[in-house]
Amino acid sequence: MDDLTAFPQGFLWGTATSSYQIEGAVSEDGRAPSIWDTFCKVPGVIDGGDNGDVACDHYHRWPEDIALMRDMGVDAYRFSIAWPRVMPQGDSKVNAAGLDFYDRLVDGVLAAGITPYPTLYHWDLPQALQDRGGWPERETAERFGEYADVVARRLGDRVVNWTTLNEPLCSAWIGHLEGKMAPGMTDLTAAVRASYHLHLAHGRAVAAIRAAVPGAQVGIVNNLSPCEPATDREADQAAAIRADGHTNRWWLDPIHGRGYPQDMVDLYGVDLPVRAGDMEAIAAPLDFLGLNYYFRNVVSDDPTGPAPYARQVYEPGRPRTGMDWEITPDGLEQLLMRLTEEYGAQRILVTENGSAWPDTVGTDGQVSDPDRAAYLDGHLAACARAVRRGAPLAGYFAWSLLDNFEWAYGYAKRFGLVHVDYATQKRTLKGSGQRYTDIIAAHRRRMRRAA
Ligand code: IFM
Repeated sequence: MDDLTAFPQGFLWGTATSSYQIEGAVSEDGRAPSIWDTFCKVPGVIDGGDNGDVACDHYHRWPEDIALMRDMGVDAYRFSIAWPRVMPQGDSKVNAAGLDFYDRLVDGVLAAGITPYPTLYHWDLPQALQDRGGWPERETAERFGEYADVVARRLGDRVVNWTTLNEPLCSAWIGHLEGKMAPGMTDLTAAVRASYHLHLAHGRAVAAIRAAVPGAQVGIVNNLSPCEPATDREADQAAAIRADGHTNRWWLDPIHGRGYPQDMVDLYGVDLPVRAGDMEAIAAPLDFLGLNYYFRNVVSDDPTGPAPYARQVYEPGRPRTGMDWEITPDGLEQLLMRLTEEYGAQRILVTENGSAWPDTVGTDGQVSDPDRAAYLDGHLAACARAVRRGAPLAGYFAWSLLDNFEWAYGYAKRFGLVHVDYATQKRTLKGSGQRYTDIIAAHRRRMRRAA
């Protein structure tokens, strides 16, 4: 196991989830609908007509879920806070019962010896704010700052590590340009404006957290993919540069004080609603970068497609997960090195990485998932290679602790280290969950030997 445990002392082993994907209890204790509750009601957009109404019932079963993590030996838990529980109408009125839930959760996580890593936004925008225009409007960013302030002031006496947004690319591009996620729009202008206001919201939240929590460690979570041309044709090479701008540089450059990449500003042709001081707020210094990695992106030129006019190409013969995503651990190493060398990252966390497979419970009650365990091994080995090459990687959060609501794929795609039987809510540690447990234990033994 040496190549999987070659990480420094203090390396964090974590698991990750998000509110809408696991909590359920969508109408309890004052929570109001989010854009995902609304989107799930649109006929045909979610496989199986599924929704997050019950999900993993984590809202009621969180003590059991924390116990699972404790038994696995996990150091840190990345979860998200549902804005529509805390401020159901997206305005300044706080729902005490909603905030209380996260207060109890944080206490429970800490009591299990696990460090909480809350994310303030994992896509569940209060529907009330969508009704006023959502992310394409500046008000949403300003409201997010108020929400961050409320949460930070309540939990900041116990929570040190914060992330603002999860995968703003998905909120902006998939939600507003491709229409495959809430709010289901296909409008380039709305998408670009949404991306800008998501960045501004991030900046507002960084300021709010720092003001409320002295010594807070604050980061943002981006999902990135190396983008490569399908052929050496000039047109495909240009497409790969555009895809890189759309997928990576648009999300990294502004938070590093480099502004938006000019080639992409020109390509989108949408005026950014920048006001004085915004770009400085967006580029507020961070303590760490969160990286979510799942696949690389091989593209060919697609002049008639949507921006960035680059179509993802499926290369035959490549191993793929149950999502049909190509398995390329080297892509993770590549991104870790890029964050280190090109963006000067001082501390990186892999905040999500994992794979979906069609798991079944055997007659012995066990869930054997060697493909997921192999994916885990392959990507941890890639992390270790990056660390050897100097990447300041400080932790790895497996996606996901539990099988859960996989957005437009509903419950059909299972990413968990723990199997969830949705009919009974029974949790079963999978073979990959045991593998992760063993890797964590092996790393601890290695650190003890080295001490
Ligand atoms: O389930 C999602 C998660 O919500 C965000 N990152 C990717 C995961 C797998 O698709």
